[in-house]
This record gives sequence, structure tokens and C-alpha cells, in this order.
Amino acid sequence: MKTSMRTIVALPGEGIGPEVVDATCELLMGTGLPLKILTPPQGSPLPEATKRAAREADGVLFGAAGPSTSLVVAWLRWEMAAWAGVRPIRFFPGMRSPLADPDGIDYVLLRENSEGLYPGREGELAEIVRLLPNLSDRTGKTLKDFGTEGRFAVKVVTPRGAQRIARFACDLARRRQQRGKPGKITLVTKSNVLPRTDGLYDEIVGQVVREAGLPFEHFHVDDAARRLVRFPKAMDVVLCMNLYGDILSDLGAETAGGLGLAPSGNFGDGWAYFESVHGSAPDIAGKGIANPTATILSAALMLEHMGMSAEAQRLEAAVGHIYRDGKVLTPDQGGTARTRASCGCARSASRAATSPTCCRPARPTSW
Ligand code: IPM
Ligand code: MN
Repeated sequence: MKTSMRTIVALPGEGIGPEVVDATCELLMGTGLPLKILTPPQGSPLPEATKRAAREADGVLFGAAGPSTSLVVAWLRWEMAAWAGVRPIRFFPGMRSPLADPDGIDYVLLRENSEGLYPGREGELAEIVRLLPNLSDRTGKTLKDFGTEGRFAVKVVTPRGAQRIARFACDLARRRQQRGKPGKITLVTKSNVLPRTDGLYDEIVGQVVREAGLPFEHFHVDDAARRLVRFPKAMDVVLCMNLYGDILSDLGAETAGGLGLAPSGNFGDGWAYFESVHGSAPDIAGKGIANPTATILSAALMLEHMGMSAEAQRLEAAVGHIYRDGKVLTPDQGGTARTRASCGCARSASRAATSPTCCRPARPTSW
């Protein structure tokens, strides 16, 4: 059966965003897939027509946020309520991991995207002292004891938020089990110091996962950080509260080979967008040397989401080929190739992968 045309909205963001998104879109067009790519005007805030196009698209690919495009990410993630951040951490042989034996690192860091300390609710200490004069910590100290000069931030968690991300984690774990993975969920919180907020996640996620009959473990975020370095291969689905997921996904990306390699898919109720985990990297922006891998792998997650599973696997296999081959790598991976050359190579490899004898994916798509 012929696949029907899919519409993608590409939003480059800033810094290296435009370079990696342009090169990835060129790659996608070069694969001959039935894709229509729209690049509506970006602006900050996003123009209404762009929002409409992104809402209606089959897939949305975002480049990288920086100071002048943070409102784009705010719209994509928080206004559009893309509450589940899927961040696969996977080592492909040839990637420049700092670990001695990274082969086999393959887990998903699942980040709760909508709650916790994000998107930032802050104010003056004096205001909250006025509003909550009796709010005390576990030692009995009230906010007044800090004086009136200072600031505060509010962390919010809800049972609804915890439940839906827990169920998402279970679905993800079951899908991975079907592909021969353990289907284990590792919950990351800091409930020893935040027993009410983080503790709510412990309680609810623990219950949902137990009911689902899946293997479960819990670590506090400091312990989890060292485990992701020391025992990354023991991880399968690592469910993190928002800020912990932000921090640990950079750490995880680095163990696999670098921040330039880590993709993400962000899912809400019936809508999703895809973006690299890295930022706008102003230090190398405009030089044409940014690694497009994170964006290419994000595009693979997007193809999978749009029902183009085989094509997604081919694209991942093409990335695998580039790293195994090691000839067309960008400087962050020890090579001298430019962004476009790297994408061009992925395009040829993914085309070659259409032939049954060449470049078949070694493993099915990883998340
Ligand atoms: C990420 C980024 C964002 C975050 C920034 C750009 C707001 O670091 O997607 O991980 O902190 O979530
Ligand atoms: Mn981040």
C-alpha cells in the first residue's frame, strides 16, 4: 500500500538550530518519502498562522531554543501541553563515549515535561512571607527566618500529572519488552528531602507500575546520576521529574557520546513535537560544523510517530552506519566533516537501506 502524504512543520529555533534542521529537512526530502515540509515564519512569539500550521501538521520538528526563541519552546511544550518527554539514550558503535565500555547503552529517559519547577514561577521572598507566614521546613524554620530579601520558586506536582506520566512509562516499557528489553521502570525523585511533592510521585508511580506488573525501582536523583554513569546498561525506562530529567538527559547523552547525539519526542494528548536535547550552541553557530545526529534521530522518532516505522528504522540504521563507518563525522566526534556532509551521508545510507541486502537495521527502533 502506498503511504499517504504527511505534512511536517519545521521550526529552526536559533543558533545551530537552523543549520541542523535545514540539513535534516534536505535529508528527509532526499529520501523520496511522501513528505511535505512547511517552514512557516518563526517570530517570537510565534505568529498565529504558524501555530495553526504546527497544530494541524502530522509532525513538528524543532531545532534548538536560545534566548530569543525560548517562547517557541514555551508554546510547543507548555501551551501545547506536550507533557511526556521521550529522550532515548543509545550508543551506536563509533560514537565518542567517554566511558570505557559503552556498547549496549540503550535506554529511554522519560521526562515529565509539565510540572515541577517548570516553566518557572518565581517571586520576591517578602511576598511569600506575607502570604504564608507559617510555612516552615522540617526543622521548624519559617521563611521569615531568611529575612525579607531574597526570592522563591514554586514546585508543583499533581496526582493527575504523576498518573499520566506513569501510565506513559508503562506503555513504553511494554513496547520495549516486546522488543526483548526488560521493561523495567526506574523512578527518579528526591523524596528524602521533598517527601510531600516528590513523595507523591513515589507513591503514585509505584502504584501504577505495580498494578501494571512491571519491574520497578526507585533512586534519589543524586544516586541516579552516578548510576547512569556507572551502570547505564542496567537502565531501561528511567522516569524523571521535570528538572531531574533535564539534568540527567544531558548526562545520559554524554555517556552515549555527546549532547549533539541525543534526540527527543514530546507527546501530549493527540499531539507531539520533536527536537534535539541540545541547545542553540552559540559558540559554534553559523560555522556549519554542528552535529546533525540529534535532529536526524528526532526526525526518526517523528517518522515513527507518523506511522512510518520502517522508514524510521532505516534512518536510525543510516545513523548507525555513519558511526560504524567513521568517515564522515563532525568535529565533536573527532572528524572534520561538516553538518551537510554528515546529512548527505545519512541520506545515501538510508537510501541504500531500502535494498534488502544492505544496511538492514541491526536492531529495531530503540524506544
Ligand atoms: C531542554 C532544554 C530546555 C529545558 C530549555 C531550553 C528551556 O534545556 O529541552 O532540555 O530546560 O527543558
Ligand atoms: Mn536541557
